[in-house]
Amino acid sequence: MSDMAHKVGIITAGGDCAGINAVVATIVKIGSAQGYEFIGFHKGWEGALSPMRYRTLDLESVRGISHLGGTILKTTNHGRFSAKIGRGEKHAIDPAILLEAKTNLDSLGIEGLIVIGGDGSLAGASQMADLGVNIIGVPKTIDNDLSTTDVTFGFSTAVSVAVEALDKIHTTATSHGRVFLVECMGRTAGWITLHAGLAAGADAILLPEFPLDLGQFVGFLEQHMQTHGSAVIAVAEGITLNLPSTVQDKKNAENQMVGSSYTLMQMIETQFPGKFELRNVILGHTQRGGSPNAEDRILARRYGIAAFEAYQQGQFKTVVSMRSGQIVLSPLTGEIDVVKRVTKDNPIYQAAQKLGVYTN
Ligand code: F6P
Repeated sequence: MSDMAHKVGIITAGGDCAGINAVVATIVKIGSAQGYEFIGFHKGWEGALSPMRYRTLDLESVRGISHLGGTILKTTNHGRFSAKIGRGEKHAIDPAILLEAKTNLDSLGIEGLIVIGGDGSLAGASQMADLGVNIIGVPKTIDNDLSTTDVTFGFSTAVSVAVEALDKIHTTATSHGRVFLVECMGRTAGWITLHAGLAAGADAILLPEFPLDLGQFVGFLEQHMQTHGSAVIAVAEGITLNLPSTVQDKKNAENQMVGSSYTLMQMIETQFPGKFELRNVILGHTQRGGSPNAEDRILARRYGIAAFEAYQQGQFKTVVSMRSGQIVLSPLTGEIDVVKRVTKDNPIYQAAQKLGVYTN
């Protein structure tokens, strides 16, 4: 290493999730021991734009944060650096904004960045890397919908939260003889819903990946209520409901999916009046907040170590990823935001089917 310390910027961008702080703390801990210096930017990429907002990250500032949810650096899932508009669409960030960030980083003597983000933030990072900025990405989202990796931290915690909620709702559903539609996050991917639904013994799992035949689903509910007397349904927020196009377009827009369980409930009540006593529960941001569980803490630490090592080895324009239990480096390309969706040959989906869980 040269006499000049390496100065590395850390950015946490996009929606928060459990485990981000553990990644930040791990990078700083491992890197500081090797003489690296770290600057944490405030509120994602926004902190690297003018007027810059950042802080030095040293051992003292990351002590005791790994078990905390959220991000000590703050974040945003929109803003001037957003490389994502609507469902699956992305756009080139204004070159003037990219240049502003690069000039600002240079002015601080930042040698490169470790960016902890989801699809939009990593797509933005890839555009910065195209400008010659040294970047290592760390994939982060509760949705677990990034094709670049088998698993993201935050997902396991989100599933645990959803399972706990579904377990609780089971008792009320049974006591009252009701049908509960429990809405899980995940945008256009049904991973949280599928995993939580199977783990909690949901009677049906409704996923966004496949069309929902309302008549068939109601037929299942009728039969199920006759035999079981109550039902708990795990509903993905992104399910397709064949709504009038204007309403559907609005729901398809990024972050407008919340409330699908309510819409579904209304559709059933309108088209099949008086058949069931229905309630919907939106789990919402409870799935994103709070402390990471043990699995996510371990994954976050492994990603943090791998990200620093990749940085140290100069393996830039890559994303640390998990493939069959091993950490590997994947390319940080413009295709970083390809969404990974549930398929019918997925073993968890198959298990649900074999158990007789209704799936669309
Ligand atoms: O991508 C993570 C996620 O939590 C999605 O599951 C959800 O649809 C969205 O973010 C919610 O975003 P916001 O926090 O902006 O409401």
